[in-house]
Amino acid sequence: MAGINVGVLASGRGSNFEALVRATRKEAIDADIRLLIANVPGAPALDRAAALDVPALTVDHRQFRTRREFEQAVTAELDRHDIRLVCLAGFMRILSPWFTARWPNKVMNIHPSLLPAFAGLQGTRVHEAVIESGARVTGCTVHFVSDDLDGGPIIIQRAIAVRDDDTPESLSLRVLVEEHHAYPEAVKLYCDQKLEVSGRRVRRLE
Ligand code: GAR
Repeated sequence: MAGINVGVLASGRGSNFEALVRATRKEAIDADIRLLIANVPGAPALDRAAALDVPALTVDHRQFRTRREFEQAVTAELDRHDIRLVCLAGFMRILSPWFTARWPNKVMNIHPSLLPAFAGLQGTRVHEAVIESGARVTGCTVHFVSDDLDGGPIIIQRAIAVRDDDTPESLSLRVLVEEHHAYPEAVKLYCDQKLEVSGRRVRRLE
């Protein structure tokens, strides 16, 4: 399908990457997931890309002296594939102000909590912190990436109840189901030009 060229950056499992690919192929989303970049050699996301027939490559951050050089290498690949929107999907590297300035409001991230709660944590650690806090509600957030870690303009949130018997694992599985709906929805809104960013807020255009 022709549409906005999307590049996905991932570090691990890649289930959100797969959800994006499947949704863009099946639903009316004017996007084409053109490239997966993993920063971790052998990341399972790379196998998913091969199975889904999406071009994929590894840019190993450990091969670069500085964060900037790593990000320049990633940007070169994104440019080479004519990418217009970058989706972070379980990408466990902090991006520098150089990268966010290079891609202003063109980088999205998914975070497994209702931001701004539980910002700055990753993966299972987020769900552990939610349970420890006693919060009764959690969920996921898709947001634009800014210089403020997990603090960029919020596009979509989906909430679920925390149960008395939840473990970090059980919670993460239920939040993940919501993630797989929220991320394609956010990409669709972006591709349909229905998002207007104003400071920290994202307005939905009709
Ligand atoms: C997802 O739950 C995502 O929200 C989270 O890592 C998981 C990756 O799963 N991201 C973060 O914690 C970023 N701070 P996936 O590789 O199967 O998409």
